Amino acid sequence: MAEVVWGLATSHVPSIGAAMDRGKTETDAWAPLFEGYRPAREWLADPEQAPDVAIVVYNDHANGIDLDVVPTFGIGTADEYPVADEGFGPRPVPVVQGHPELSLHLLEKLVDDGFDLTVFQELEVDHGLTVPLSVWTPDPGESWPCPVVPLLVNVIQYPQPTAARCYALGQALGRAIASFPQDLKVAVLGTGGMSHQLAGARAGFINPEFDHMFLDAIEKDPAKLAALSREDYIRDAGSEGIELIMWLIMRGAMNPQVRKVHSTYFVPASNTAAALALFDNRSTQLV
Ligand code: DHB
Ligand code: FE
Repeated sequence: MAEVVWGLATSHVPSIGAAMDRGKTETDAWAPLFEGYRPAREWLADPEQAPDVAIVVYNDHANGIDLDVVPTFGIGTADEYPVADEGFGPRPVPVVQGHPELSLHLLEKLVDDGFDLTVFQELEVDHGLTVPLSVWTPDPGESWPCPVVPLLVNVIQYPQPTAARCYALGQALGRAIASFPQDLKVAVLGTGGMSHQLAGARAGFINPEFDHMFLDAIEKDPAKLAALSREDYIRDAGSEGIELIMWLIMRGAMNPQVRKVHSTYFVPASNTAAALALFDNRSTQLV
């Protein structure tokens, strides 16, 4: 039986990846953000925590998928996922290896559970997926630490799925993982956020009060976050801050009680409030 070993929530701001790719992580502007990651990265680097496969819940930003097709939820089933060119050439990071066997199992179980996912047999992955992998693994070398199953969510075009639907998908994902017959250690990444708005009259909008409420509740009371409407998210977290609903998919796949290993919050990364939150799913199972 497969089990979820840990969950990592992290922002995916493209310039965090660019700072790493261009060797700028120790500049005055970037050092505090990367310093905040350190305890989580150290914990994750312990071989004890190494997963066999990671499910990355993320959104594409019209790089891998044209805007003429906008699936609400999707899953990648490919052997590998090339890194998308977002205008400056693909990031100098490894191609993402897939885990088609787990992808197809999750697809079947989630469809049976009422979540009709769009299937991506080919997919290029953008900063929404590669930056979280870099936050986890700053120096991947030739390959990322494990194969990846991409789980896609529309957070860029109205109507985005509700937070409640995302949380329910996460719970179904947890059941689907548990029913995989092989003994796999599975990590789940929830990506995007925190508060930010990239365009319009409120461009640059950041709301630390909402962000701190969210960071606390994602650990202790995710149902409260699932009860918020998409309008609540956009009003309180900004038009792109609604990316936070993807954290609820990660959280839904975990136990009702999790142990927080580390969290950090930093403003600004680009025009964004950025955060990381890492949860251990194993230490609470017997509680
Ligand atoms: C930026 C882009 C994003 O996709 C995001 O979530 C945050 C920031 C940016 O271009 O600054
Ligand atoms: Fe984004």
